[in-house]
Amino acid sequence: MAVSRRAAVTGLVALGLGLPAIRSLALPTSRPWLPRPVELASGEILAASRARLPFTAPESRGYGYNQTSPGPLIRVRRGEEFRIRIANHLNEETTFHWHGLICPTEADGQPQNPVLPGESAEVAFPILQRAGLSWYHPHPHGATAKQAWHGLGGFFVIEDEEEKALGLPSGEDEWFLFLRDIQLDALGRIFFPDDAGGSEGTLPLINGVVNPRAHAANRQLRLRILNGANARVFRLSADAPLTLIGNDGGLLETPVPVDQIQMGPAERIDVILDLRKIAPGTVVGLRDDSFAAPLLEITVREGAPDHWQLPKRLSTITPLVHHGSEPDRVFTFQGDSTINDKPFEPTRIDFAIPFGKVERWRFQSAQGAPHPIHIHGAHFQVIQRSGRGRNQVEPWERGWKDTVLKWAPEQVDILVRFDTYEGRYLLHCHKLEHEDGGMMLNFVVGKDPEAALEKARIEALYGPICTTRQG
Ligand code: C2O
Ligand code: CU
Ligand code: CU
Repeated sequence: MAVSRRAAVTGLVALGLGLPAIRSLALPTSRPWLPRPVELASGEILAASRARLPFTAPESRGYGYNQTSPGPLIRVRRGEEFRIRIANHLNEETTFHWHGLICPTEADGQPQNPVLPGESAEVAFPILQRAGLSWYHPHPHGATAKQAWHGLGGFFVIEDEEEKALGLPSGEDEWFLFLRDIQLDALGRIFFPDDAGGSEGTLPLINGVVNPRAHAANRQLRLRILNGANARVFRLSADAPLTLIGNDGGLLETPVPVDQIQMGPAERIDVILDLRKIAPGTVVGLRDDSFAAPLLEITVREGAPDHWQLPKRLSTITPLVHHGSEPDRVFTFQGDSTINDKPFEPTRIDFAIPFGKVERWRFQSAQGAPHPIHIHGAHFQVIQRSGRGRNQVEPWERGWKDTVLKWAPEQVDILVRFDTYEGRYLLHCHKLEHEDGGMMLNFVVGKDPEAALEKARIEALYGPICTTRQG
């Protein structure tokens, strides 16, 4: 016992975590420490390659960005220009999609803009949107599920003055958690089931390790959580009070206490985990309904007193206004591979949306659910969920979203306005096997929608008509 205790203490000191109560270390545990994502340094290249991942057999390889999975965290400020060199060191094509970022079509990392093996490219666009947690991941035609499953994905954080003024927990008290799941074969190598209905793993991963543990001060922790899984829906709860403060598109208007949060693939939440009343030495679990063991075990230790008060008001969300209750467009997600009876076709552009107009869209489906439905090029507001099922907009679906989870009999209505860029964007299911299987479509946004559609259709078939860009 003495030996293992000393070893544990030495390990903690090496990790720079200080000395917690020895009592809590008496029981050896096999849980790995929760890694903090490294931050991408400015000017550093972002390269996709094969990578050694900690949860596999030593000789096995997954994929990573800059050799890590999740990849390095990218942090930018609203109003800045985001500029980066991306490189593909894999021996298959990939793309770099900035999920949740409103950016021009050429920078969006869509399937029609692959980075070929051995190639690199420069990406630059201004950060025009409010603070929030977005992410980046591959989006190559037909191979997104495989590449994400093998480890490609990373955080993309936008900061702004409004958020900074709230004084939310930061530094040691702000944690980024990249949730996903994985399957290994008998030899400990990554096994990709490639299930057309959505690949689910048997092992949960947080920041690239299985069932980690961590230490936290008895303060308020800000947890910024991403469901980066191919297909799994997480139902999260914790052994301490959770208050929701934000989601995909940034802060909510007001904080909402929650017991359980349901997160579909690609959705993000921002929550405060209140550990102030937890006795030092207590282990607090972050749990998911489908796994018996907590996803994460947090051992609470005595920290500096926390006098910060969660503000009653976090932000202002201006509601989009649409007249009439009839949807402008209805999308039916069928089986594993179609929207409105059509599978994705790279060169087919389905419709044009008038720039700046608020539209009401309805998502429905008979089977194949859950479908986490995602739109490129704009954020949206979820206004109604009807039909059999939950019949309500969940607290984590208020504010601005870029992905919404829909179960089979439910019908979800959203309001959306494309008012940043004209160009070609995507609507798809973010269950990645559904996306690869064809549950995706192209549309265009234009000030003159008919002309934009015409031009986009010709360009999809024959390449760019002219090289000068709009604007
Ligand atoms: Cu997160 Cu079109 O993707
Ligand atoms: Cu996206
Ligand atoms: Cu789907």
